[in-house]
Amino acid sequence: MFLFDKKKILALDVGAATVKIAELDSSRNRSTLLALGIAPTPANSFAGGEILNPQAIAETIQALIQQLKTKRTHVATALSGTSVMVKRITIPRIDTKLIPEQIRWEAEQYIPYDINEVNLEYEVLKTSPSPESMDLLLVAAIQGHVFKYAEAISAAGLNCTILDVSGFALANCFKANYGELDGQSVALLNIGATSTSMVVIDNREVVFARDIPVGGMNYTVDLQKGLNVSQEEAEAFKLSIGKDKTAPVEAEGLINATTEVVSDEIKASFDFYLNSASSHTISRCFVTGGASRTVGLIERLNQIVPCEKLDPFLKIKVDPKTFSQNYIDQVRDFAAVAVGLGLRQVGD
Ligand SMILES: Nc1ncnc2c1ncn2[C@@H]1O[C@H](COP(=O)(O)OP(=O)(O)OP(=O)(O)O)[C@@H](O)[C@H]1O
Ligand SMILES: [Mg+2]
Repeated sequence: MFLFDKKKILALDVGAATVKIAELDSSRNRSTLLALGIAPTPANSFAGGEILNPQAIAETIQALIQQLKTKRTHVATALSGTSVMVKRITIPRIDTKLIPEQIRWEAEQYIPYDINEVNLEYEVLKTSPSPESMDLLLVAAIQGHVFKYAEAISAAGLNCTILDVSGFALANCFKANYGELDGQSVALLNIGATSTSMVVIDNREVVFARDIPVGGMNYTVDLQKGLNVSQEEAEAFKLSIGKDKTAPVEAEGLINATTEVVSDEIKASFDFYLNSASSHTISRCFVTGGASRTVGLIERLNQIVPCEKLDPFLKIKVDPKTFSQNYIDQVRDFAAVAVGLGLRQVGD
């Protein structure tokens, strides 16, 4: 029992703006949230999915685990942004034993990185365009970026036990809360600070996952330039909109202009997916991430696809004695990937 307890997972989601840590219990038929903490990411320590300063990230992780008083040491974390690439490929149907060899060769054509510097994984999809071929989801992670995660986690005194992909963890969170939705095609969007994960789940399977390099930081940078203020002021103005009138009147127009840029990028990825072979019409889109709170953004995305907010706690038990409703409302848009990771089991 003791050994089993020690193997329980500590979820870690490192982002460009915030670091999230979560602890869940899935031992009974319903998962329970035991702990959840969020801290600002130290300046210049993470961008676009890459850890730039492992020591600074380790210190933030340590501060969070002290605050949460967690004893768990086995971390599940996820790669995002430019650290990882997921691509659906079609290959001639072959014996599954031969796939690892075959994908190395295939990957050279599809992955724009040096094949000797990436870790390759794959999943065979249930769908395939014809009986003679098979569809795979190819996952390529940049080794150097993986090492930086391992470095930060071990410097924090923890073990990196599960290394996931941010979009897959998002899909895991979605499935735990909304079920399998047989026969439907749904999209998920996690709009962070410097990247937006887009995932498509088609009839129970993740068939598409891509990180688009846009997010809340686009707004901050555009406000900074447009209002000629510091980054800190721009961020504060952005967060004040819709709450009070501290931001200059021009801010709203600048936000709306950035929303056009951000939604155009997201639409391009929807179009890319919909134009690919074997895609199906997306019926609904579930949106999360800190920047999904931007005034007017979801309304704009609604013109591309019907959107609703993803609730990472919909089916997760959250004890009101441990978490106030106010806290849960504050963290809801930031927690999806951490919840999806926290539901993973050792051996996954
Ligand atoms: N109320 C709000 N209105 C607009 N933007 C917000 C609001 N609250 C937070 N944000 C933005 O959300 C972003 C942080 O969200 P999140 O924590 O999901 O990103 P991250 O995971 O750190 O980044 P990434 O996944 O891109 O590495 C920041 O850009 C922040 O400015
Ligand atoms: Mg994020």
